[in-house]
Amino acid sequence: MALTPYATAAIVSLGHVALWIWLYNRLHASSLPSRAVRHLEKWTIFVAVATCGWLLFGLLGPPRETAVDGAWTTWLARLWCGICVLMLAYVVTAWCVRRWHHPSGHCLVHNDTTRIRVADVLGHAPIGRMVTRLCAALPGNEILEIHAQHKIIRLARLPHALAGLRIAQITDLHLTGQLTPEFFQLAVEHVNRWEPDAVMITGDLVDKAPCVAWIPATLGRLRARYGVYAILGNHDQRLADVPTLRKAVAASGIHDLGGRTMTCRMRDVPVLLAGNECPWFPPAPPWVPCTDADRPFSILLSHSPDQLPWARRCGVDLMLAGHTHGGQIRLPVVGPIICPSRYGVRYASGLFAEPPTLLHVSRGLAGVQPLRWGCPPELTLLELQPNG
Ligand SMILES: [Fe+2]
Repeated sequence: MALTPYATAAIVSLGHVALWIWLYNRLHASSLPSRAVRHLEKWTIFVAVATCGWLLFGLLGPPRETAVDGAWTTWLARLWCGICVLMLAYVVTAWCVRRWHHPSGHCLVHNDTTRIRVADVLGHAPIGRMVTRLCAALPGNEILEIHAQHKIIRLARLPHALAGLRIAQITDLHLTGQLTPEFFQLAVEHVNRWEPDAVMITGDLVDKAPCVAWIPATLGRLRARYGVYAILGNHDQRLADVPTLRKAVAASGIHDLGGRTMTCRMRDVPVLLAGNECPWFPPAPPWVPCTDADRPFSILLSHSPDQLPWARRCGVDLMLAGHTHGGQIRLPVVGPIICPSRYGVRYASGLFAEPPTLLHVSRGLAGVQPLRWGCPPELTLLELQPNG
């Protein structure tokens, strides 16, 4: 059965879009300098739109009985159409596998969500710019509705003495001035009300240099029994003066775990903590891969979930990541599409059990683009429980 030109054009166009999104996602997962990423991003979009127009004209335009038929452009178009169809088949297959096989089901015991409608709590919208105000007013935009999620999770090697340990994760604040400090202070107050044993901050703290001065009045107010720990992300790398940010973090009583390991005694049990800021601030922390059964329980902070293979090789028990923002826009049924990861949307958000590591990816609090649909900002409290 032959497809109509319109059906063929639809399939090829979907595959074409999938192919370019595939490239776009991997581009934003790379360690290329931010300026290069921005230039390549523009070229990616331009070439994607131009070639799509060329393909659609070839498929739907007037029939051409000219010498061009049989020329290399025709063969190139056919080759590209074939690649697009293969790409669409790959994306649909991967989506189906993710849909029906999520490897974390048994690890999540309980998930309780408290919705914080920020403008209602504060009595006004904590927005610093007109453009952000306009974006926030778009129907369904969720940037001012924080979901505080209390998740009880099971970990195979958690010592029984640590049963019930409460780890709060806060990530991707993206301090730019679009949202005022009040937004982040409200989030910090909520985390403090949880009375966590430790707070883990997994990167992308600041985008605009003047906002470094906000650290003491925001993240500096976090309180936890065994301390507050942080790493930096790719957006922090774009600051002209990263050492000043690290100093502000340290001066606020937050342990900088970037590229380091340290042992923290929690309930008299040694817990190995580490921070992996790769690929933006190499090297990885000095961690000797160890999968011995009697190794200490370990928690890794990594901005990108792409470091999961490294974590598994090292025998990490719990890995916390951000960076992906959950995709920021999640379509009904389809889910997220844009996700800056070399694994695409596979680790967009949630729990992923890939032994020996359990990965938690938070949707984060904010973003450079003040747009969120089906993907509200997230604060997380992870309550750890042993298996069995
Ligand atoms: Fe981010």
